[in-house]
Amino acid sequence: MVISRRVAENLQRASWIRRMFEEGARLKAERGEDRVFDFTLGNPEVEPPRLVIEAAQRELASPRPHRHAYMPNAGFPEVRAAIAGRLAAATGLPYTANHVLMTVGAGGALNTVLKALLDPGDEVIVLAPYFAEYTFYIQNHGGTMVVAPTRGDFQPDVAAIAAAITPRTRAILVNSPNNPSGVIYRAAIYEELEAALQRAGQPIVVLVDEPYKALTYDGLKAPEVPALVTRAVTATSWSKALALPGERIGYLALSPRLPEAAALFEACCFTQRVLGFVNAPALWQWVVADVGDRTVEVAPYQRKRDLVYEGLTGIGYRCIKPEGAFYVFPQTPLDDDVAFVRLLADEGVLAVPGSGFGCPGHMRISFTVPEDTIVRSLPGFAKAFERAHAAR
Ligand SMILES: Cc1ncc(COP(=O)(O)O)c(C=O)c1O
Repeated sequence: MVISRRVAENLQRASWIRRMFEEGARLKAERGEDRVFDFTLGNPEVEPPRLVIEAAQRELASPRPHRHAYMPNAGFPEVRAAIAGRLAAATGLPYTANHVLMTVGAGGALNTVLKALLDPGDEVIVLAPYFAEYTFYIQNHGGTMVVAPTRGDFQPDVAAIAAAITPRTRAILVNSPNNPSGVIYRAAIYEELEAALQRAGQPIVVLVDEPYKALTYDGLKAPEVPALVTRAVTATSWSKALALPGERIGYLALSPRLPEAAALFEACCFTQRVLGFVNAPALWQWVVADVGDRTVEVAPYQRKRDLVYEGLTGIGYRCIKPEGAFYVFPQTPLDDDVAFVRLLADEGVLAVPGSGFGCPGHMRISFTVPEDTIVRSLPGFAKAFERAHAAR
């Protein structure tokens, strides 16, 4: 065996994902691509806005020297200053370039800060349902993931978080708008969390993962957490906001209210380097500084959210209406979500079991697909629902 025991175990634990993928490929080969409805992927369906591509072309054509050279590990100072200016305007807090590290996407941002925070055996609290990769990101740096349940509406349960805190707790990792539930955590919950952390009396970082912050519906906005919580560190990316996940560009922002901000910044510059990221891609740093707050159009995502939510609840599926991101997370009509997802696949519809997000009895449906795919999939959802009820 050349691979490590730990990775072999992780692959084994995640093998149902591979099986789902293989099952999907088999179904597509058997029935034809257009008769299989794949809701498993989190890849934005839309193209990046044209002005983003034009900015990239301008940057590539720029005669200015050293645009593609090494820079400080945190990223180009002018780019970080531009991001800091946006953060200061949004939060009212005095962000500077030295609170911002450009990163290799949100995944790179999370790994960079987790490595800076964790000693072996330190704990990170995550809230179920959670992004499945958190398990591995925390394990990468010797940490232990501690799962706290959320309330029935998938909002954080602050009493459950407080009960999960131990002397080894170093961070609480929250994701809002949430993958997979689509829920936006409310400002009042963060205020409650801040009070609980003050009572706990130890320096716990609230790590806010918000790559879907630009994708919110019905006029709702995700709160500015650093204005509500003392020790906030935000991790984000343009993967979804500008439909650029392949370009790997994001940032970490350390709150100016964080007493340890200067030391953590220095630590993150080091960890970003030694993790082998070194720095975020140079070209895309210039591009995101150039395009300002532009995002992809949200209205088409909201239309898809409406189509899938109304379609599923019309059939009888129980689910919370997503307020952001591009997923719905209904209850499965069978308690065994893996069994139900198999039954659904038999009807030509592919979804991801909630167990993978620490929330059995649910399934994730990613609606970054053409509207027509949603409409044509509904009879399959209805058939599987009836079959599950008949089997109970
Ligand atoms: C909740 C969450 N966090 C982090 C990431 C990683 O994002 P990135 O592509 O910017 O690394 C994703 C990607 O799907 C995500 O859903």
